[in-house]
Amino acid sequence: MIIFKTEADIQNYLSDLRLKGKSIGFVPTMGALHAGHGSLVIKAKDETDCVVCSVFVNPTQFNDKVDFEKYPITREADLALLLEWGCQVAFFPDVEDVYPNGMNAGSEFDFGYLNTILEGEKRPGHFQGVGQVVSRLLDIVKPSDLFMGQKDFQQCMVIQKLLELKENPYQTKLHICPTVRDADGLAMSSRNKLLSEPQRTLAATIYQCLVSIQSKQSTDSFSVVQRECLDLLTNKDFIPEYVSIADANNLSLLEDFDAKRKMVALIAAKIGSVRLIDNLLLN
Ligand code: PAF
Repeated sequence: MIIFKTEADIQNYLSDLRLKGKSIGFVPTMGALHAGHGSLVIKAKDETDCVVCSVFVNPTQFNDKVDFEKYPITREADLALLLEWGCQVAFFPDVEDVYPNGMNAGSEFDFGYLNTILEGEKRPGHFQGVGQVVSRLLDIVKPSDLFMGQKDFQQCMVIQKLLELKENPYQTKLHICPTVRDADGLAMSSRNKLLSEPQRTLAATIYQCLVSIQSKQSTDSFSVVQRECLDLLTNKDFIPEYVSIADANNLSLLEDFDAKRKMVALIAAKIGSVRLIDNLLLN
Protein backbone atom coordinates (compact mmCIF):
# COMPACT_ATOMS: atom_id res chain seq x y z
CA MET A 1 0.00 0.00 0.00
CA ILE A 2 1.24 3.46 -0.86
CA ILE A 3 0.41 6.33 1.50
CA PHE A 4 0.05 9.86 0.16
CA LYS A 5 -0.39 13.10 2.04
CA THR A 6 -0.47 15.72 -0.67
CA GLU A 7 -2.66 16.40 -3.69
CA ALA A 8 0.33 16.71 -6.05
CA ASP A 9 1.80 13.31 -5.09
CA ILE A 10 -1.41 11.33 -5.25
CA GLN A 11 -2.47 12.98 -8.51
CA ASN A 12 0.88 12.17 -10.07
CA TYR A 13 0.50 8.53 -9.15
CA LEU A 14 -3.14 8.22 -10.17
CA SER A 15 -2.79 10.03 -13.49
CA ASP A 16 -0.20 7.41 -14.54
CA LEU A 17 -2.66 4.64 -13.70
CA ARG A 18 -5.45 6.41 -15.57
CA LEU A 19 -3.22 6.74 -18.66
CA LYS A 20 -2.70 2.97 -18.50
CA GLY A 21 -6.50 2.59 -18.65
CA LYS A 22 -6.90 1.44 -15.04
CA SER A 23 -10.14 2.07 -13.17
CA ILE A 24 -9.94 3.81 -9.80
CA GLY A 25 -12.27 2.94 -6.94
CA PHE A 26 -12.59 5.52 -4.20
CA VAL A 27 -13.70 5.02 -0.59
CA PRO A 28 -13.83 8.36 1.27
CA THR A 29 -13.80 8.01 5.08
CA MET A 30 -13.21 9.97 8.25
CA GLY A 31 -11.13 7.15 9.73
CA ALA A 32 -11.84 5.19 12.93
CA LEU A 33 -12.26 2.39 10.42
CA HIS A 34 -14.36 -0.70 11.04
CA ALA A 35 -15.71 -3.68 9.12
CA GLY A 36 -18.31 -1.45 7.41
CA HIS A 37 -15.47 0.45 5.73
CA GLY A 38 -13.79 -2.91 5.10
CA SER A 39 -16.80 -4.06 3.08
CA LEU A 40 -16.50 -0.92 0.91
CA VAL A 41 -12.78 -1.45 0.30
CA ILE A 42 -13.33 -5.12 -0.54
CA LYS A 43 -16.20 -4.30 -2.91
CA ALA A 44 -14.04 -1.61 -4.54
CA LYS A 45 -11.24 -4.17 -4.97
CA ASP A 46 -13.65 -6.54 -6.70
CA GLU A 47 -14.91 -3.85 -9.06
CA THR A 48 -11.88 -1.71 -9.90
CA ASP A 49 -8.12 -1.94 -10.60
CA CYS A 50 -6.91 0.36 -7.84
CA VAL A 51 -8.61 1.23 -4.54
CA VAL A 52 -7.96 4.61 -2.97
CA CYS A 53 -9.18 5.18 0.58
CA SER A 54 -9.02 8.67 2.07
CA VAL A 55 -8.95 9.31 5.81
CA PHE A 56 -9.84 12.90 6.66
CA VAL A 57 -11.94 14.16 9.55
CA ASN A 58 -13.65 16.97 7.72
CA PRO A 59 -14.19 19.98 10.01
CA THR A 60 -16.73 21.65 7.73
CA GLN A 61 -19.38 18.92 8.09
CA PHE A 62 -19.63 19.10 11.88
CA ASN A 63 -22.44 21.38 12.93
CA ASP A 64 -21.50 20.61 16.54
CA LYS A 65 -17.99 21.65 17.67
CA VAL A 66 -17.93 19.12 20.53
CA ASP A 67 -18.84 16.30 18.13
CA PHE A 68 -15.84 17.29 15.98
CA GLU A 69 -13.47 17.51 18.94
CA LYS A 70 -14.37 14.08 20.26
CA TYR A 71 -14.53 12.33 16.89
CA PRO A 72 -12.36 9.18 17.29
CA ILE A 73 -8.94 9.27 15.62
CA THR A 74 -7.22 5.87 15.31
CA ARG A 75 -4.60 6.48 12.64
CA GLU A 76 -2.29 3.50 13.33
CA ALA A 77 -5.18 1.07 13.53
CA ASP A 78 -6.67 2.56 10.34
CA LEU A 79 -3.44 1.93 8.44
CA ALA A 80 -3.25 -1.64 9.73
CA LEU A 81 -6.83 -2.32 8.63
CA LEU A 82 -6.32 -0.79 5.19
CA LEU A 83 -3.31 -3.07 4.72
CA GLU A 84 -5.30 -6.08 5.90
CA TRP A 85 -8.15 -5.31 3.47
CA GLY A 86 -5.68 -4.96 0.59
CA CYS A 87 -6.24 -1.26 -0.12
CA GLN A 88 -3.65 -0.09 -2.66
CA VAL A 89 -3.58 3.65 -1.98
CA ALA A 90 -4.21 5.48 1.32
CA PHE A 91 -4.68 9.23 1.29
CA PHE A 92 -4.20 11.06 4.59
CA PRO A 93 -4.35 14.76 3.71
CA ASP A 94 -4.15 17.67 6.16
CA VAL A 95 -6.72 20.46 6.30
CA GLU A 96 -4.39 22.67 4.21
CA ASP A 97 -4.25 20.05 1.44
CA VAL A 98 -8.02 19.69 1.28
CA TYR A 99 -8.79 23.38 1.73
CA PRO A 100 -5.78 25.28 0.29
CA ASN A 101 -7.90 28.44 -0.04
CA GLY A 102 -9.46 28.16 3.40
CA MET A 103 -12.50 26.32 4.66
CA ASN A 104 -15.00 28.93 3.50
CA ALA A 105 -13.80 29.07 -0.08
CA GLY A 106 -15.60 26.00 -1.47
CA SER A 107 -18.63 26.02 -3.77
CA GLU A 108 -22.15 26.10 -2.31
CA PHE A 109 -24.29 23.23 -3.52
CA ASP A 110 -28.04 23.37 -3.84
CA PHE A 111 -29.21 20.02 -2.50
CA GLY A 112 -32.77 21.36 -2.39
CA TYR A 113 -35.32 19.26 -0.52
CA LEU A 114 -32.64 16.83 0.71
CA ASN A 115 -31.13 19.64 2.75
CA THR A 116 -34.40 20.47 4.49
CA ILE A 117 -35.40 17.12 6.00
CA LEU A 118 -34.06 14.58 8.51
CA GLU A 119 -30.26 14.99 8.72
CA GLY A 120 -30.45 18.16 6.62
CA GLU A 121 -32.91 19.69 9.07
CA LYS A 122 -31.32 18.39 12.28
CA ARG A 123 -27.73 19.16 11.29
CA PRO A 124 -27.72 22.58 9.59
CA GLY A 125 -24.71 22.98 7.31
CA HIS A 126 -23.76 19.30 7.53
CA PHE A 127 -24.50 18.39 3.93
CA GLN A 128 -22.84 21.56 2.63
CA GLY A 129 -19.69 20.39 4.42
CA VAL A 130 -20.05 16.84 3.08
CA GLY A 131 -20.61 18.21 -0.45
CA GLN A 132 -17.62 20.53 -0.13
CA VAL A 133 -15.20 17.80 0.97
CA VAL A 134 -16.45 15.05 -1.34
CA SER A 135 -16.38 17.46 -4.29
CA ARG A 136 -12.79 18.36 -3.46
CA LEU A 137 -11.74 14.73 -2.95
CA LEU A 138 -13.39 13.74 -6.24
CA ASP A 139 -11.41 16.47 -7.99
CA ILE A 140 -8.21 15.10 -6.46
CA VAL A 141 -8.83 11.36 -6.98
CA LYS A 142 -11.00 11.56 -10.16
CA PRO A 143 -12.40 8.09 -9.51
CA SER A 144 -14.27 5.94 -12.00
CA ASP A 145 -16.19 4.41 -9.08
CA LEU A 146 -17.20 5.73 -5.69
CA PHE A 147 -18.20 3.41 -2.82
CA MET A 148 -20.41 4.57 0.03
CA GLY A 149 -22.43 2.82 2.73
CA GLN A 150 -26.23 2.64 2.80
CA LYS A 151 -25.96 3.30 6.55
CA ASP A 152 -25.81 7.00 5.56
CA PHE A 153 -28.81 6.71 3.26
CA GLN A 154 -29.48 10.43 2.93
CA GLN A 155 -25.79 11.18 2.44
CA CYS A 156 -25.75 8.71 -0.50
CA MET A 157 -28.61 10.66 -2.08
CA VAL A 158 -26.80 13.94 -1.46
CA ILE A 159 -23.69 12.54 -3.16
CA GLN A 160 -25.74 11.34 -6.15
CA LYS A 161 -27.11 14.89 -6.38
CA LEU A 162 -23.60 16.31 -6.00
CA LEU A 163 -22.44 14.24 -8.99
CA GLU A 164 -25.34 15.67 -11.01
CA LEU A 165 -24.64 19.25 -9.88
CA LYS A 166 -20.96 18.87 -10.82
CA GLU A 167 -22.02 17.34 -14.14
CA ASN A 168 -20.08 14.25 -13.10
CA PRO A 169 -16.77 15.29 -14.70
CA TYR A 170 -15.02 11.92 -14.18
CA GLN A 171 -18.11 9.82 -15.07
CA THR A 172 -17.99 8.42 -11.56
CA LYS A 173 -20.39 5.59 -10.78
CA LEU A 174 -21.77 5.65 -7.24
CA HIS A 175 -22.05 2.22 -5.58
CA ILE A 176 -24.24 2.13 -2.48
CA CYS A 177 -23.15 -0.84 -0.38
CA PRO A 178 -25.23 -2.64 2.26
CA THR A 179 -24.96 -1.65 5.91
CA VAL A 180 -22.72 -3.95 7.96
CA ARG A 181 -24.12 -4.80 11.40
CA ASP A 182 -22.86 -6.25 14.64
CA ALA A 183 -24.45 -9.53 15.80
CA ASP A 184 -27.19 -7.67 17.71
CA GLY A 185 -28.06 -5.56 14.67
CA LEU A 186 -26.29 -2.32 15.59
CA ALA A 187 -25.06 -0.69 12.38
CA MET A 188 -21.28 -0.34 12.39
CA SER A 189 -20.24 3.26 12.81
CA SER A 190 -17.10 5.07 13.91
CA ARG A 191 -19.22 6.76 16.58
CA ASN A 192 -19.92 3.36 18.23
CA LYS A 193 -16.38 3.64 19.61
CA LEU A 194 -17.63 6.49 21.81
CA LEU A 195 -20.33 4.38 23.52
CA SER A 196 -19.87 3.19 27.09
CA GLU A 197 -20.55 -0.50 27.70
CA PRO A 198 -24.12 0.03 29.00
CA GLN A 199 -24.82 2.43 26.12
CA ARG A 200 -23.44 -0.09 23.65
CA THR A 201 -25.85 -2.73 25.01
CA LEU A 202 -28.82 -0.38 24.57
CA ALA A 203 -27.72 0.91 21.17
CA ALA A 204 -29.20 -2.08 19.29
CA THR A 205 -32.67 -0.72 20.21
CA ILE A 206 -32.48 1.45 17.09
CA TYR A 207 -32.24 -1.64 14.89
CA GLN A 208 -35.01 -3.35 16.86
CA CYS A 209 -37.24 -0.36 16.09
CA LEU A 210 -36.41 -0.51 12.38
CA VAL A 211 -37.21 -4.23 12.28
CA SER A 212 -40.46 -3.62 14.13
CA ILE A 213 -41.45 -0.91 11.60
CA GLN A 214 -40.65 -3.35 8.81
CA SER A 215 -42.64 -6.20 10.33
CA LYS A 216 -45.73 -4.08 11.08
CA GLN A 217 -45.94 -2.28 7.73
CA SER A 218 -48.92 -4.27 6.50
CA THR A 219 -50.79 -4.58 9.81
CA ASP A 220 -50.46 -1.26 11.66
CA SER A 221 -50.56 2.40 10.78
CA PHE A 222 -47.20 4.14 10.85
CA SER A 223 -48.28 6.62 13.52
CA VAL A 224 -48.91 3.75 15.96
CA VAL A 225 -45.56 2.04 15.24
CA GLN A 226 -43.79 5.39 15.34
CA ARG A 227 -45.23 6.11 18.80
CA GLU A 228 -44.14 2.64 20.02
CA CYS A 229 -40.61 3.21 18.72
CA LEU A 230 -40.34 6.68 20.24
CA ASP A 231 -41.52 5.29 23.60
CA LEU A 232 -39.16 2.31 23.43
CA LEU A 233 -36.18 4.52 22.57
CA THR A 234 -37.03 6.96 25.36
CA ASN A 235 -37.40 4.10 27.87
CA LYS A 236 -33.95 2.86 26.88
CA ASP A 237 -32.32 6.21 27.65
CA PHE A 238 -32.28 7.59 24.10
CA ILE A 239 -33.35 11.03 23.05
CA PRO A 240 -34.95 10.30 19.67
CA GLU A 241 -34.60 12.98 16.98
CA TYR A 242 -36.74 11.33 14.36
CA VAL A 243 -38.41 8.04 13.54
CA SER A 244 -39.60 8.44 9.94
CA ILE A 245 -40.53 6.60 6.80
CA ALA A 246 -39.86 7.92 3.32
CA ASP A 247 -40.00 7.02 -0.33
CA ALA A 248 -36.63 5.31 -0.88
CA ASN A 249 -36.25 6.78 -4.36
CA ASN A 250 -36.47 10.46 -3.46
CA LEU A 251 -36.71 10.52 0.36
CA SER A 252 -40.05 12.31 0.35
CA LEU A 253 -41.44 11.74 3.83
CA LEU A 254 -44.55 9.57 4.17
CA GLU A 255 -47.37 9.95 6.67
CA ASP A 256 -48.24 6.26 6.42
CA PHE A 257 -47.04 3.04 4.84
CA ASP A 258 -47.64 2.82 1.10
CA ALA A 259 -46.91 -0.64 -0.33
CA LYS A 260 -46.91 0.79 -3.87
CA ARG A 261 -43.70 2.67 -3.13
CA LYS A 262 -40.21 1.47 -2.27
CA MET A 263 -39.95 2.63 1.35
CA VAL A 264 -37.16 3.23 3.84
CA ALA A 265 -37.43 3.73 7.59
CA LEU A 266 -34.91 6.11 9.14
CA ILE A 267 -34.04 6.81 12.77
CA ALA A 268 -31.73 9.29 14.49
CA ALA A 269 -31.36 9.24 18.26
CA LYS A 270 -28.88 10.33 20.87
CA ILE A 271 -27.69 8.16 23.72
CA GLY A 272 -25.72 10.27 26.16
CA SER A 273 -23.78 12.60 23.89
CA VAL A 274 -23.45 10.07 21.05
CA ARG A 275 -25.74 10.58 18.09
CA LEU A 276 -26.56 7.46 16.07
CA ILE A 277 -28.43 7.06 12.78
CA ASP A 278 -29.65 3.99 10.95
CA ASN A 279 -32.16 2.97 8.30
CA LEU A 280 -33.78 -0.09 6.77
CA LEU A 281 -35.41 -0.65 3.40
CA LEU A 282 -38.93 -1.87 4.12
CA ASN A 283 -40.03 -3.68 0.96
O1 PAF B 1 -19.46 9.28 5.66
C1 PAF B 1 -18.38 9.83 5.98
O2 PAF B 1 -17.52 9.23 6.62
C2 PAF B 1 -18.15 11.27 5.58
O3 PAF B 1 -19.33 12.00 5.61
C3 PAF B 1 -17.43 11.42 4.23
C4 PAF B 1 -18.29 10.93 3.08
C5 PAF B 1 -16.11 10.67 4.25
C6 PAF B 1 -17.13 12.89 3.97
O4 PAF B 1 -16.30 13.42 4.95
